Amino acid sequence: MDSIRIKGGNRLSGVVPISGAKNSALKLMVATILTDEPLILSRMPDLADTRFLSNLLSHLGTDVERSGSVVSLQTANIERAEAPYDLVRKMRASFNVLGPLLARNGKARVSLPGGCAIGARPVDLHLKALELLGAQIELTDGYVEARADKGLIGSKINFPFVSVGATEHALLAAVLATGETVLENAAREPEIVDLANCLIAMGARIEGAGTSTIHIEGIDRLLGADYAVVPDRIETGTYALAVATAGGEVLLKDAIWEHNEVLWDRLHMAGAQVTDQAEGVLVTADQERLIATDIETRPYPGFPTDEQAQFMAAMTVAEGRSVIRETIFENRFMHAPELMRMGARIDLKGNEAVVTGVGQLRGAQVMATDLRASVSLVIAGLVAAGETMIGRVYHLDRGFENLEAKLAACGADIERVKS
Ligand code: UD1
Repeated sequence: MDSIRIKGGNRLSGVVPISGAKNSALKLMVATILTDEPLILSRMPDLADTRFLSNLLSHLGTDVERSGSVVSLQTANIERAEAPYDLVRKMRASFNVLGPLLARNGKARVSLPGGCAIGARPVDLHLKALELLGAQIELTDGYVEARADKGLIGSKINFPFVSVGATEHALLAAVLATGETVLENAAREPEIVDLANCLIAMGARIEGAGTSTIHIEGIDRLLGADYAVVPDRIETGTYALAVATAGGEVLLKDAIWEHNEVLWDRLHMAGAQVTDQAEGVLVTADQERLIATDIETRPYPGFPTDEQAQFMAAMTVAEGRSVIRETIFENRFMHAPELMRMGARIDLKGNEAVVTGVGQLRGAQVMATDLRASVSLVIAGLVAAGETMIGRVYHLDRGFENLEAKLAACGADIERVKS
């Protein structure tokens, strides 16, 4: 298993090109199931997760080809409307093939998902939405067996709480349903807007994506399209926090300012400068230490749970005490004990972490536990005295394209150690 070695202490300066958003790319790829025509996706990140999903789509009958950052997908026929455990367990987003398979094929059998170890992550909202669209669903031997003999039928779906995955899943199914579907209390993340825009480019009729009420007028057939994935706001936030913590000045090229407004606000409060520029977002940090700042994770446009671990890493060396509250997932503080091995002072109480900034972290041997947690250890390693070795970096490879190269190009002393 590969590790990452970092020698801390270097400031960062230069340009980091922001890749296409992993969380968006995965849902856009799934949209290929809805049409027999080619779907050409550009600005596609090359990640372990996009490769897993390519394998699953190939298994279903999709022809997948990558050339640089362009991926062409064509599902001329659904050859197998079944997603086996081995292909779904590695990544929860693969569960989203269920709705489109059902919409195009009238039946599907998909394993219940695995994914990051961040608490119980049920799919009850996904299944409820599909049932409201007229699917008959049975759970047998860890599989969801779903049928819609007469096709899916438009419906009103009022989500009891905000779920990104369930909103996307309902969208992906309802575009080919008969009649109108209304999604209420829908998620408003930029990835939802990206998926809706791609589906619209394929001919779908969708209004209101990005607000909490989405209207979909079902149509019989979707067409092919050419579509560019939105830049990754989580990768943007991660590098912004790396620069704010390590110090320096970096342009996050192609980053979209509006997608991280709460983070920019918190970074200003903490003493870093962030500005919206024509080419992206510029982060400048020339302060001695950041000032401790509180956050609470919330659905978009609130503070993203996927940036919580990175923010915590920044706060471990800030001046003062910061309170970090996680309200989206249970068990999403697995990075805290690892940060404490590097000298951080963190008290955990339920969904709250109180971080008391220390003057200096020390390099240590630490273990990545999930995707976002692992990158928080990279941020800590960049400011720690001495050497940090991060094990199990396959978690990082799921979601960060060329991480070591992007940081090394800005002056970080970081390398991958193959084993
Ligand atoms: C997506 C993102 C993930 C991000 C999360 C929240 C992808 C591939 N992943 O995950 O990186 O952290 O949004 O921004 O896009 N829940 C249920 N029942 C359901 C569905 C969700 O109880 O049927 C719960 C979850 O356990 C969680 C909360 O709802 O506590 C929000 O989850 P959700 O928004 O669905 O996250 P994902 O779509 O899985």
